Amino acid sequence: MDLFAHRIIPVVVINDADDAEALGLALRDGGLPIAEITFRTEAAAESIAIMSEIEGLTVGAGTVVSPDQVELAAEAGAEFIVSPGLRADVVREARLDGKPILPGAVTPGEIMEAQALGVEAVKFFPANVYGGAAAIRTLSAPFTTMQFVPTGGVSASNMADYLALPCVPAVGGSWMVPTGLIQAKDFAAISTLCRTAVQLVAAL
Ligand code: 3PG
Repeated sequence: MDLFAHRIIPVVVINDADDAEALGLALRDGGLPIAEITFRTEAAAESIAIMSEIEGLTVGAGTVVSPDQVELAAEAGAEFIVSPGLRADVVREARLDGKPILPGAVTPGEIMEAQALGVEAVKFFPANVYGGAAAIRTLSAPFTTMQFVPTGGVSASNMADYLALPCVPAVGGSWMVPTGLIQAKDFAAISTLCRTAVQLVAAL
């Protein structure tokens, strides 16, 4: 599995697992067959389990903050793990479960810790607060091999700034899966937002 194949990782906040299947299909059919389901809602684990059944869709878990949650996510069928911050026990548990892990790191010290744990790519979150593309460009000077996946405030209008950086293999964001559209069950609109995002990447 190449987590960065599409250069965008949709970050999903889902409140009702009943919406999971339609949402997964909307992402896949919109040309973005990958989803990071965040453990911010009670529906996360069940949604991962449902979406994991969809052929051609890569499903992972986000907002994973403890080793227990890594296990829960892995049991539900998550293929990858994303964490907003850096915890050695979370990184280790993900490895034990054989899951690629993208931990959060935004400071030089955190990036050094991540490197010491053998992490090759970090989530740079919240990117809009921690200095955006300019900060990542500056951090990549000393950390020449580290890859950064910015999330937080990334949108169709600014993702090109990030993706132009050689150290940014992909961005993450929720702009193509807005909560309002999920709640309104407007999955066609979500597919359209995905298609637009994919076209923007193709035009880079
Ligand atoms: C994340 O967890 O990656 C972020 O909450 C996504 O940020 P966004 O909602 O601003 O895209």
